Amino acid sequence: MPSSLTIKSYCKTTLLCALTVLTIVTARAQSRKEYLLQKGWKFSKDEQEGAQANGYNDAKWESVTVPHDWAIAGPFSGNNDIQKVKIEQNGEKEASVKSGRTGGLPFVGIGWYRLKFKVPEFSAGKKASLIFDGAMSHARLFINGKEIGSWPYGYNSFHFDITSALKAGQENMLAVRLENLPQSSRWYPGAGIYRNVHLLVTNATHIPVWGSYVTTPVIEKDFAKVAIKTNVETGDQAFKPLKMVTIIKDPQGKTVSENTSTLTETDQLAFAQNLVVKNPQLWSPETPVLYTAVSKLYDDGREVDEYSTSFGIRSIKLEPGKGFFLNGQVRKFKGVCNHHDLGPLGAAVNTAALRRQLTILKDMGCDAIRTTHNMPAPELVKLCDEMGFMMMVEPFDEWKTPKVKNGYSLLFDEWAEKDMMNMIHRDRNHPSVIMWSIGNEVPDQSKKDGNKIAKWLQNICHREDPTRPVTAGMDRLDDVLKNNFASLLDIPGFNYKPARYDEANGKLPQGFILGTETASTVSSRGVYKFPVEFFKDKQYDDNQSSSYDFEACPWSQVPDDEFVKQDDLGFVIGEFVWTGFDYLGEPTPYDSKWPSHSSYFGIIDLAGLPKDRFYLYRSHWNPDKTTLHVLPHWTWPGREGQVTPVFCYTNSPSAELFINGKSMGKQTKNKKDNQTRYRLMWKDVKYEPGTIKVVAYDDNGKAVGEETVKTAGKPHHIELVTDRTSIDADGNDLAFVTAKVCDAAGNLCPDATNLLNFKVTGAGSFNAIANGDAANLQSFQAPMMNAFSGMLVAVINSKESKGQIQVTASAKGLKNGMIAITAK
Ligand code: GAL
Repeated sequence: MPSSLTIKSYCKTTLLCALTVLTIVTARAQSRKEYLLQKGWKFSKDEQEGAQANGYNDAKWESVTVPHDWAIAGPFSGNNDIQKVKIEQNGEKEASVKSGRTGGLPFVGIGWYRLKFKVPEFSAGKKASLIFDGAMSHARLFINGKEIGSWPYGYNSFHFDITSALKAGQENMLAVRLENLPQSSRWYPGAGIYRNVHLLVTNATHIPVWGSYVTTPVIEKDFAKVAIKTNVETGDQAFKPLKMVTIIKDPQGKTVSENTSTLTETDQLAFAQNLVVKNPQLWSPETPVLYTAVSKLYDDGREVDEYSTSFGIRSIKLEPGKGFFLNGQVRKFKGVCNHHDLGPLGAAVNTAALRRQLTILKDMGCDAIRTTHNMPAPELVKLCDEMGFMMMVEPFDEWKTPKVKNGYSLLFDEWAEKDMMNMIHRDRNHPSVIMWSIGNEVPDQSKKDGNKIAKWLQNICHREDPTRPVTAGMDRLDDVLKNNFASLLDIPGFNYKPARYDEANGKLPQGFILGTETASTVSSRGVYKFPVEFFKDKQYDDNQSSSYDFEACPWSQVPDDEFVKQDDLGFVIGEFVWTGFDYLGEPTPYDSKWPSHSSYFGIIDLAGLPKDRFYLYRSHWNPDKTTLHVLPHWTWPGREGQVTPVFCYTNSPSAELFINGKSMGKQTKNKKDNQTRYRLMWKDVKYEPGTIKVVAYDDNGKAVGEETVKTAGKPHHIELVTDRTSIDADGNDLAFVTAKVCDAAGNLCPDATNLLNFKVTGAGSFNAIANGDAANLQSFQAPMMNAFSGMLVAVINSKESKGQIQVTASAKGLKNGMIAITAK
């Protein structure tokens, strides 16, 4: 690219405009400038000899934007991740051939990215750093042909000083080589630069990446002490008597506290400022109040940097026998575990998609997320701060002893401490982060010296962040009770052990226990199987599981089994259900039965549509909202006269079922019986087409609500519903449009599998599609898919122009569905 080109024409083809005009995310006075490197990337799969060199010809490479997941385009194939393997933690005794364990997508292999860019703000005496929020995986970075660093763990954020490799006033080349090894994961990891990349330009004297640490050591009703440690760098690291002025702004932007400090030699380039906030507004899931600390750094009277840290004021405490306290109030975690993928969007991070997930979880009454089994995207942590979710941030699924052949065990010795440090330094100012986990079901639980590794990792957490407790998800209960592994943790966390909480608590010193992973009930949205019985590892010919929520794995339970223990045992401090959302990979109970390639564990399916179980959790977890949900659907041609149980999930104590106006009796929740404590069930009713109605009653027998389900007629039209009618015209925002196949009267046709085609015109474009069927091999990226249980979801992207977006769904023999979305 000749440098003599005018800026205008250069902008059309490369990134200069992205750097200079479009994507400066922060530009503070004369000090720091931060750029989001999203546009202008070139990408090629497979090894490309010499691709790090500036002169390499990448003209034939694909043009992509970052975040980018190279594997989500598919195609799905059982050969992409075929392996003969024994999954030990599932209790398997023999190896069997498995496909779809990691999503059936082509994530294995090498990928190269190249980006040409100019940094107008970079000149002699400036510093430049590259920050990767995550790159999958084994990243090697090159600037102008020179290797400037590598970071193998694909989930972690990392940063490198690129000052010496960067050319001022000239074009630069960033090349990134990634490589995903086969058998390196137990789920779909994604592939590529799937999280954001930032370029930071500062003065030589500046506050480094993740340079502040804010704690709130004293919180009283009328004041809180805020302690802010801020590191500084001076280029050659020589001491300078720098000055820092820090203000704290309240959520309304009003300055509520201020401190000015000057470094003395003994401070060693680290400021320690103590401020006071009067009448602090406390952060909690219900009141996610955020303050901001803004620090200005002065060198010899000249402002050289400005750094903002968002934080919250909240206290956490654990007490034996009493449990977990947030701001002095006992509460139990109503949490879910989530993998990082976003269903049809793959691993490529998107704020709108994350926000939609959290909005759905909030409605369910969920207040906590465990980021299984790896570091979250920074966007998720920020949203949890803002929307009010407590987080357990977890780095690892294995330590020294492998679960998969080429997993983290290959890296552990060299990288574990560095990975922990980055995780903690990046996220320790977030009020949403309540605890660290040091690992999930690591086989080292049972190994000699496993407890020493646990102690070492916990110590790293305590050293880098003394304000948060540490847990681990343990499954080998007998071993960890004997070998001290469980007793040394701040919080003993158990996976799938409600039946043994009492015993474990009796043998442990802490006085409380957490359900780090619970339930693992399996179901397919809108699919019901007969007879309705409790099953473990049940398989059906159609690769689906029943939504009566009675099916689990040999090691896992139905939700009710965990609820009972959570409610009855005061020392149990909450649960994290496996999982909130379905995810790509781990298609238990069909691990060995292609084409299944995504999970059945989700309370919500891969398309983001709630399964029936959602309402069971909502009825129990969200006291602020009325839940009255009835299942199954009532369109069963051929089942006339056959037993077709009806269940009701409600927060009312009792309800009456009517079939075509005839009462089937009243059911009342029974605290003494685990099966009927949380759900109302009419197990003997026989199917006849028509209308089923449940009427809910309060404690006084007064009718407080009713819900009706009707037998549907033939598919007639498509109804479209969008999660948001107005989205940002920024090219990143998304609307999720649910399509329902309905009969003439507007009833959902629960068996409909019509092929729906989407057309998007105006100020938006089609992005992705999913129907939640774990065995569906249709592409997520073609604007057509068969409905599953009558529904699917299309993801619509904004462009960078304002206006109306028209979405039309059509199908043979059905009336079109249409909806308009505004891009603002
Ligand atoms: C657990 C494991 C999770 C997931 C789950 C499925 O043992 O920690 O990652 O595999 O089982 O039930």
